Amino acid sequence: MKKIYLLFTTALLFISNIARADEGMWLLSLLEKLNYKDMQAKGLRLTPEQLYSVNNSSLKDACIWFNGGCTGELISSEGLILTNHHCGYDAIAELSNVQDNILDNGFWAKTKSEERKPVTPMSITRVVRVDDVTEAVLAKLSGVAEKDRGIKLQEIFKELGKKATEGTHYEYTGREMFKGNAYYLFVMEKFTDIRLVGTPPQNIGKFGGETDNWMWPRHTGDFSMFRVYANKDNKPAEYSAENVPYKPLHYLPVSLKGVKEGDFAMIIGFPGRTNRYEFSQGVALATDVVDPNIVNLRAIRLEAWKEQMVMDEDTRLKLSSDYAGIANYWKYFDGEAEQLKRNKVYDKKTAEEKAFAKWAENRDEYKTLLYDIDQVYTMYKPYALQRIYLNECIFAPTINQLASFGIGLDELYTKRAAIQAAKEKSKEEKAKEIADIDGKIKTMSENYLKALNDVHYTERIKTADKKIFAGMLKMYYRNIPADQWPESFTKIASKIKNGNSDEVFAKYTDMVFEKSMFASKEKLTEFLKEPSHKKLLKDPAFMYVKSHRDNYMTRFKPKVDEFNAQSNALGRKYIKGLMEMHPNRTFYPDANSSQRLSYGTVQSYNPKDAVHYDYITTLEGVMEKYVPGDYEFSLPQKLIDLYNAKDYGRYKMENGRLPVAFLTNNDITGGNSGSPVMDANGHIIGLAFDGNWEAMSGNIHFDEKYKRTINVDIRYVLFLIEKVGGAQHIINEMTLVE
Ligand code: ARG
Repeated sequence: MKKIYLLFTTALLFISNIARADEGMWLLSLLEKLNYKDMQAKGLRLTPEQLYSVNNSSLKDACIWFNGGCTGELISSEGLILTNHHCGYDAIAELSNVQDNILDNGFWAKTKSEERKPVTPMSITRVVRVDDVTEAVLAKLSGVAEKDRGIKLQEIFKELGKKATEGTHYEYTGREMFKGNAYYLFVMEKFTDIRLVGTPPQNIGKFGGETDNWMWPRHTGDFSMFRVYANKDNKPAEYSAENVPYKPLHYLPVSLKGVKEGDFAMIIGFPGRTNRYEFSQGVALATDVVDPNIVNLRAIRLEAWKEQMVMDEDTRLKLSSDYAGIANYWKYFDGEAEQLKRNKVYDKKTAEEKAFAKWAENRDEYKTLLYDIDQVYTMYKPYALQRIYLNECIFAPTINQLASFGIGLDELYTKRAAIQAAKEKSKEEKAKEIADIDGKIKTMSENYLKALNDVHYTERIKTADKKIFAGMLKMYYRNIPADQWPESFTKIASKIKNGNSDEVFAKYTDMVFEKSMFASKEKLTEFLKEPSHKKLLKDPAFMYVKSHRDNYMTRFKPKVDEFNAQSNALGRKYIKGLMEMHPNRTFYPDANSSQRLSYGTVQSYNPKDAVHYDYITTLEGVMEKYVPGDYEFSLPQKLIDLYNAKDYGRYKMENGRLPVAFLTNNDITGGNSGSPVMDANGHIIGLAFDGNWEAMSGNIHFDEKYKRTINVDIRYVLFLIEKVGGAQHIINEMTLVE
């Protein structure tokens, strides 16, 4: 009887493993051990060595970390890089102005000498190899108190990293997996001479704007292209006219074969952050407290900016990158809260915890774990908005971001005064130390003056900023309990009579913008040429920022730190317990901006009852959405002409239509933007650029039914380069597979 029972449960486990197989962001170095058989069964036609190899070139070498926040892939022997339009957005916007508006008009370098180098530094990073350093790290961490763990870990990684990169130009980065049950060291090669090769106009690259963002069906040509340059030895080098195109160890061939439902599809990229082992309390905090607050705070910024952006082109260009960034995660958190509820993630987590509690009943190590985590959350909850309000409310107005510079300056002046007052120091000692500090003050001010060049603070932007400042005062007043306010805020709020806060806050805002030097680039420039502590201490924007920051640092940061340390420690124990509880399950670590592979298939879905979403969109759909002159749904005439002529060249499908975007069920998150979607042979078939609305809960819970990745079809990318951009020479650089 017992045997049958056992057999029965393993069979069940086996089935559930298969069903869950598209979930998971896997470490490439572990694929051979953990996933290879399954990948093969699904259709993969490469060897493990072709996926990840330290000594030979492999897919890992072609899939790179793009600018520390996105993914890109090498697609030619001459360092050509493909990534998303929204990943290149900052660079493209920076290279644009009203006279030479490549953001709106698009751009293709006709020769390499026409490629453009953005002023703001950029980088791409290749993974050289991945070392499992779990044993060494855990040995060194034993006995270290939880609160010191982070700092100690940095020391350990530094020691191991130095050894691992000795005698090379490589860099290293350490990564914690499973909340500290495992540790990996990534040896990396970083290139910084990156130049823009081309981009479609933004009404293609960002077609659908915020309305379509995070949603399917999608019709965005979300791609841009860069090139990596190296020195003559093919090694990383600072920008120089002498540099030559980088010769990659591996680059991806481009498939023209197209996709159909059920095709094998894999994605390699650098997913940023997931929290799949989150406790139910964390889910509740997200849906009830954190997410709605971020959404409401960001809405204030977006509304005020939009008002000004529609008024003139210069303002629109200056604010468009910031607007897109804030809007992206404004909509994200709205969707996350909605889908966590719709997909009943709280209930699912509670059920898992219940099963765990039952298993843990007689295990000393684990039996109080769920009680403990409850205590930790109960303690933290009253302060959970503090950090969010510091980042998303206090530092939301540009004036306050500018004024935050004063914090470092103030610290230096305070030190200077202390030295001057120190009785035990000799005159010479004092003079030397003061000269040192004065030097620092000078450099700091000079650097800030230089940085100020790139800050856009026109009258229009300032008008928006004033509105944001006043709006943020009100949000703080309403949503942060009075006993958590700094004294300065209590003083402002004490003027409020009969609950009418608008008038008081408007007056205060006027005063700050009139008196503060941070409200005016001219005044600030003057100050930076001759900085003074006295002047700084009288500045109302600086005082506002300083009081809130001090309030946070002294009263709330210790609580936040303690919460993080304790919840991480309990999370670590929980994952360890889950692994013991399910010895046959293959676990994958949360995303942490390290290179991962996800595999699955091309797949449609049903978003709700009686509704079916096809897995592919076409240019027909682009035209259906087209609204002439619209902010989000306009199109370049060239594309419309090609559509009317049905001039799609070799990029059309069998039914004569031009493919635009398609769906896979790969497990990705933010940071995967720009990742290649590859077929069973490792040829690129598309470019991942988004997730879908029904699975916005995906960072906390992977829902098989709904979780999809939205990709630009590579045929649309090639069509846009060749037919709309007229850049056949770029296509000629690639290796096409028909
Ligand atoms: N949601 C996508 C991502 O996070 C695209 C973001 C950029 N687009 C935008 N409309 N803001 O990767």
